[in-house]
Amino acid sequence: MKKSHRNLILSVLVIGSAIIGITTYQLTQNNQTNLSTSGKSLIGGPFTLTNQDGKTVTEKDFLGKYTLIYFGYTYCPDVCPTELQVITSALEKLGDDAKKIQPVFVSIDPDRDTPQLMKDYVSNFYPGMIGLTGTKEQIAAIAKEYRVYYSKAVEKDADPDSYSMDHSSIIYLMGPKGQFLKHFPYGTSPEKLAKGIKAATKG
Ligand code: NI
Repeated sequence: MKKSHRNLILSVLVIGSAIIGITTYQLTQNNQTNLSTSGKSLIGGPFTLTNQDGKTVTEKDFLGKYTLIYFGYTYCPDVCPTELQVITSALEKLGDDAKKIQPVFVSIDPDRDTPQLMKDYVSNFYPGMIGLTGTKEQIAAIAKEYRVYYSKAVEKDADPDSYSMDHSSIIYLMGPKGQFLKHFPYGTSPEKLAKGIKAATKG
């Protein structure tokens, strides 16, 4: 399933540019809180989605806690389970410090990922991980806000239900006000992720 992530490098470059944009913006701001209070952060924003219990949730439901957000899909053969396991291992390493972190898995495959499927899937990973899915439009909206690239990869003459999804693979750490704090690129080790989370969330 190499094709499922053939555009990974491209999307990493796109996200990388966005991150560099944010860093530049932060460096040029005397008052960094502008970034989180102006509502103009380049990554993140309001959303309405459905959680693994079928309940409607918005960005407001996550205020007051740090969130670790990853976008993917339950049928993903390789990258998503690997990255969600990295998140799980990192949070296990953090021990009690992980209590202030809410891991969230957002589907970019709304055609197949029902709330029930998300529920079954996230139960394989860190306890309390939330799975979010939604309509095509809702997923498109949050993906745009997080600069997440995704696209259905339909093989010629293949069963239309057995497609894979190309998608970017980046872990975002958002702050208690919903503000973007840090991102972790594909391939970050659990040790490095745990260290990065700890550094960004202390105090
Ligand atoms: Ni994937």
